[in-house]
Amino acid sequence: MKKVFAILLALVLVMSMVGGALAAGKVGVAMPTQSLQRWNQDGENMKKELEAAGFEVDLQYANNEVAMQVSQLENMILNDCQLLVVASIDGSALGTVLAQAKDAGIPVIAYDRLIMDTDAISYYTTFDNYAVGTIQGTYVKDTLDLDNAEGPFSIEFFGGAADDNNARFFFNGAYDVLKPYIESGKLVCASGQTDFETIATPSWSSEKAQARMDNLISANYSDGAKLDVVLCSNDSTALGVTNSLVNAGFEGDAYPIITGQDCDIANTKNMVKGLQSMSVFKDTRTLASQTVLMVSDIMNGATPETNNVYDNNVFEVPSFLCVPVFADASNYTELLVDSGYYTAEQLAE
Ligand code: BGC
Repeated sequence: MKKVFAILLALVLVMSMVGGALAAGKVGVAMPTQSLQRWNQDGENMKKELEAAGFEVDLQYANNEVAMQVSQLENMILNDCQLLVVASIDGSALGTVLAQAKDAGIPVIAYDRLIMDTDAISYYTTFDNYAVGTIQGTYVKDTLDLDNAEGPFSIEFFGGAADDNNARFFFNGAYDVLKPYIESGKLVCASGQTDFETIATPSWSSEKAQARMDNLISANYSDGAKLDVVLCSNDSTALGVTNSLVNAGFEGDAYPIITGQDCDIANTKNMVKGLQSMSVFKDTRTLASQTVLMVSDIMNGATPETNNVYDNNVFEVPSFLCVPVFADASNYTELLVDSGYYTAEQLAE
């Protein structure tokens, strides 16, 4: 009997030691909003992978409200999170709360969006944001055969939220490819709206993009003038633009090239229907895995792998950039369904 008791006791001790070793620490994950599909995926992927790596996770979404994100971060600091992963709403609005994290010795990883104007972050994981724009611009250039076709072709621009550091990178990446053709007059922007501040879309909102497209159509394209391209930085803006064009009766040969980014479900369906020309696939599973590797390294006192730096106005933040991939109706099955990112049912009408 004594022997059985001793064995049981030893077993309990071993199990509690293993349990202790598995409780690798608590990580706060702050995501901007649940209203866009991609952040739900990012949040779920991060939680799943962090938990699989043995971490406890405090995952919060902030409804695109800066004050809510700040208070969520304050709570994470108070509630003993040992590391924070933050996808910011306004990249310049977190300096004060992150200074508290720094004072408490809590490392911060900026997730997907760079956090600006602070020395309180340690690392940045993202996709190559400029390359996203290059992929979109190159698609337009190749599809219209801008080097050989006579033109002129007409184009309008829809950028992202001005308070998101990524948005300028996306726009500049695309604009740098198209600029020579705009300067030579082969591409014409009838509205004349080509500077980032003017073409930016607050909160990346589909509704705001739709309203602006409605205005552009009535001011510039209601007399039968052809619109060849609407360069949209991402899928939520592309969705608004698509709704506006469809409502205004654009179809067939009169339907423009529309670009996007994220391969959201609604946009992938639109690609299949010919209502959106392309998107850029940023596999959120890859970004989550990369970020979890970084978290584990930091928590274990090791130096995480980085492959680039991004300037946040205070210092060159060591960064890991994942690779964005071109997507359209011809390769979406392989990219999105065969890889298990979506099920065929999710993409069915
Ligand atoms: C992300 C994009 C996303 C956009 C809107 C950006 O910071 O990089 O993938 O479409 O935010 O949520």
